[in-house]
Amino acid sequence: MKEELCTIVEARPITLDTTILKIKSKYISSGAEPGNFVMVSPNDLNDPLLKRPLGILDIKKDCFYLMVENVGKGTKLLQEKKEGEKLCVLGPLGNKFKEIKKQKILLLSGGIGIVPLFFFARKFVSQNETTLIYGARKKSKLLMRDEFDKMDFKKIFYHTDDGSLGRKGYITSSLKDILEKEHFDFSFSCGPNTMFNAIKPLLEKHIKENYFSLEAFMGCGFGVCHSCVVQTRTGYKKVCHDGPIFNTEELI
Ligand SMILES: Cc1cc2nc3c(=O)[nH]c(=O)nc-3n(C[C@H](O)[C@H](O)[C@H](O)COP(=O)(O)OP(=O)(O)OC[C@H]3O[C@@H](n4cnc5c(N)ncnc54)[C@H](O)[C@@H]3O)c2cc1C
Ligand code: FES
Repeated sequence: MKEELCTIVEARPITLDTTILKIKSKYISSGAEPGNFVMVSPNDLNDPLLKRPLGILDIKKDCFYLMVENVGKGTKLLQEKKEGEKLCVLGPLGNKFKEIKKQKILLLSGGIGIVPLFFFARKFVSQNETTLIYGARKKSKLLMRDEFDKMDFKKIFYHTDDGSLGRKGYITSSLKDILEKEHFDFSFSCGPNTMFNAIKPLLEKHIKENYFSLEAFMGCGFGVCHSCVVQTRTGYKKVCHDGPIFNTEELI
């Protein structure tokens, strides 16, 4: 982990409220793994004071990519960044997804939770038999579809709450159907807590090893401030330091 002053090489809006930042960096782009995240300062005026956690979307050569959804003050400032501007970034942080080969994998994503799973897919899809179930509120929120369609997935199931693309309603309907027909060795999920609560019992009934990448409010991002703790079967854990990826058996 290191704090790096990086340069934004490209700021590409992909929807009205979501932007992909391509960031040149020596340290973070050479060491980050799928599942890791970074803490980013929205500006250099210390307003907002705290850095914001963002998952690593991808790495190519000496650049890493972030996808920012504008939900408040910090992410709005980040979304307004332009090519050539500097960004203070701390990372890479957190644990990484387990590396697996020649297995049957199920990926489940809700909303912006697609970020770490995209990086996972770029690295591991071709080495495994992988199915993706991806849900969002509406068609425009199902991000990176063109890139996913080009990857070597066995199957992709899209869901939208309003039915504007794919199956209407939550991802649980496709999950129930597929778990009845197919066997999987591992599942990896990232999304809102409501999604985790709905899918956890289904996954644990059918799949031996399941991992969730959790979100939490973060102050420091490296285990010092205790603002990100979650209760687990073995006591309180810090999402930033012990996670963000946890085996679901650990989670209550
Ligand atoms: C490990 C990790 C990885 C993340 N990866 C991404 C990513 O790749 N792309 C992305 O756009 N966002 C990601 N997030 C969420 C992002 O950090 C928050 O949306 C951001 O910190 C909000 O800051 P803000 O100043 O814009 O909003 P604020 O003004 O602080 O809050 C605006 C709203 O966002 C909610 N919010 C704030 N922080 C969080 C949080 N950590 N989790 C859930 N809701 C929150 C608040 O409750 C409030 O309703 C990630 C969070 C974590 C913990
Ligand atoms: S964010 Fe400070 S301990 Fe996790």
